[in-house]
Amino acid sequence: MRVLVTGGAGYIGSHTLVELLGQAHEVCVLDNYDNSSPEVLNRVRQLSNGQLTDYVGDVRDGSMLDQVMAEFKPDVVIHFAGLKAVGDSMTNPLGYYDVNVRGTLQLLSAMDRHNVRRVIFSSSATVYGEPEYLPYDEAHPTNPTSVYGRTKLVAEQIITDWSRTHDDACAVLLRYFNPVGAHASARMGEHPDGVPNNLMPYIAQVAVGKREALQVFGDDYDTPDGTGLRDYIHVVDLARAHVAAVDYSKRQTGAQVFNVGTGQSYSVHDMVKAFRTASGQPIPCVIKPRRAGDIAAMQANAARANVEMGWKATHDLNDMARSTWDWQSKNPDGYDSAS
Ligand code: NAD
Ligand code: WQD
Repeated sequence: MRVLVTGGAGYIGSHTLVELLGQAHEVCVLDNYDNSSPEVLNRVRQLSNGQLTDYVGDVRDGSMLDQVMAEFKPDVVIHFAGLKAVGDSMTNPLGYYDVNVRGTLQLLSAMDRHNVRRVIFSSSATVYGEPEYLPYDEAHPTNPTSVYGRTKLVAEQIITDWSRTHDDACAVLLRYFNPVGAHASARMGEHPDGVPNNLMPYIAQVAVGKREALQVFGDDYDTPDGTGLRDYIHVVDLARAHVAAVDYSKRQTGAQVFNVGTGQSYSVHDMVKAFRTASGQPIPCVIKPRRAGDIAAMQANAARANVEMGWKATHDLNDMARSTWDWQSKNPDGYDSAS
């Protein structure tokens, strides 16, 4: 199939490109490189055979979208392009609504102009908010606590309403848990700009000597070791969920929501321990107060994705730690490292 990937040069998008090309899909990327580098696509091309075209442009630009859709004629769109830093979203709410919500509106309008009826959307487990029960299933109430989370929920609702306007439309709303890890080639991985907000890239930068110590945000939660529990998912498993969703969108209609996680959870100490083993580095830690807005634990019930899309995570915690270390140690400056 012909798959248009917005935000395809990003962390999750780039891994998805390799999996799509590996399944003989024809792929086109639209990215404005707001949070990525054109070097990413060089690496994707080195790792893949198959047809990959790309455009530099903004998903909010309707005429750009018209050009891409007229020339590439996608069967389906995977919509990754967006802003994702929870803290930034609280200080720049309008910027987040503009990219994440207006970008989605512009994309759907362009899809209507070009009769494209299938979309896969990058949503987040953060739409659930404080758990009423765990593991979260897709029926769990949604109550996001950050602006970022609200932009994702609003975008989900807009896409759902859009899907009701066409009998043949299919929208797959994927709620990702905590993506970590890197490609087995160590040629692609996560490249955060500045100080990492997320746990795994921070640990990796401590291990490689770029930062002194991991700050553990709270060890007094009501969890077995007092630190936060999360459902970490290997980015290659997550990428493969998109390939499964593309196939699923051929045989389904309507808006369909799926959790994309492993169904297991690990604490901050578990992650540090796994990374010490993978890297052989000491990884000093200092205990700090809880981070504002954090919840104690979250975990996916990912049964629906398994039953209906035939998708299941296959990488374990060691794969997550080892691949992150390989990527970080071979590319200490991410995509700015010599290729
Ligand atoms: P990322 O920042 O690495 O990738 C996003 C890509 O979109 C980047 O290449 C960026 O340059 C591009 N982009 C941003 N604004 C754009 C615009 N206006 N027009 C065109 N391109 C634009 O992020 P990621 O981790 O790969 O996340 C991809 C998607 O998944 C995002 O929508 C994010 O909200 C969502 N998500 C991420 C996580 C996570 O923890 N990484 C979890 C849940 C959901
Ligand atoms: C994981 C655990 C922290 C950093 C965020 C977004 C979410 C989604 C994924 C996009 C927590 C602890 C972290 C550090 C630490 N993104 N931690 N020291 O907060 O679960 O989710 O990323 O959709 O929306 O909110 O992930 O990796 O930041 O934190 O102790 O330096 O690690 O307190 O328990 P989080 P995270």
